[in-house]
Amino acid sequence: MKKWLTSWKRTMAVAAVVLAAFSLNAPAQARSSGPAPGPSVVGGTRAAQGEFPFMVRLSMGCGGALYSPRLVLTAAHCVGSTGTNTSITATLGVVDLQSSSAIKVRSNYVYRAPGYNGNGKDWALIRLQTPVTSLPTLPIAKNTAYNNGTFTVAGWGAAREGGGQQRYLLKATVPFVDDATCQDAYSDLVPGDEICAGYMATGGVDTCQGDSGGPMFRRDNNNAWIQVGIVSWGNGCARPGYPGVYSEVSTFAANIASAAASLGG
Ligand code: ARG
Repeated sequence: MKKWLTSWKRTMAVAAVVLAAFSLNAPAQARSSGPAPGPSVVGGTRAAQGEFPFMVRLSMGCGGALYSPRLVLTAAHCVGSTGTNTSITATLGVVDLQSSSAIKVRSNYVYRAPGYNGNGKDWALIRLQTPVTSLPTLPIAKNTAYNNGTFTVAGWGAAREGGGQQRYLLKATVPFVDDATCQDAYSDLVPGDEICAGYMATGGVDTCQGDSGGPMFRRDNNNAWIQVGIVSWGNGCARPGYPGVYSEVSTFAANIASAAASLGG
């Protein structure tokens, strides 16, 4: 199956065409026939203020995680090519995007994974004009030890396939899906670069359009949050048989660290 979930912006363009061509009730980007999407991050609940303080909302309609005071880790498909970029606004420190206490900071540089071509390597760093020192960062997994178990996902993306963006941060938990099982759904999975999660049998819980770039994370052995994935793509949202696909952070940890150092940390 071909990948079709890219940035929210592109998604909206595709959705507009789909909607115009077919019907107002057509699910955005429904490509393959299959079971109806799950009920109404999809299947999530509201995150509490301060629960995931490292969560970032990006103005192009993606998520991210605070990697260091000046750097936001997101998806390559959320950004343009590497270079100076002052057009992105990051919103931090709030679950309510309309809160008057939101921290809003502009970007000054984008670093997109070298060799990114829409097939794996879906990570990027956005450098902020001003460091955000009032919020904790989210450490990334440096090896495969945490590529298993149950993960937390969060974002302001659609709460159902084809649905609108959210004002309040939603969260959900999704179980790890091994590469072989995930490849049954997606023949174009890049197993070394991607890690899957979701309820294969039932669907119903998943990230969705607009969650891209946000973190998938879990508790480490010291009970601290650690990032194992970056929201990347999937066939629809929360469909049975189609897990969410995430960039495998441990694969890129060394590259992310050296890129971060080159950006000034
Ligand atoms: N590519 C989407 C975005 O730009 C994220 C899709 C995640 N899909 C999924 N079924 N988990 O927001």
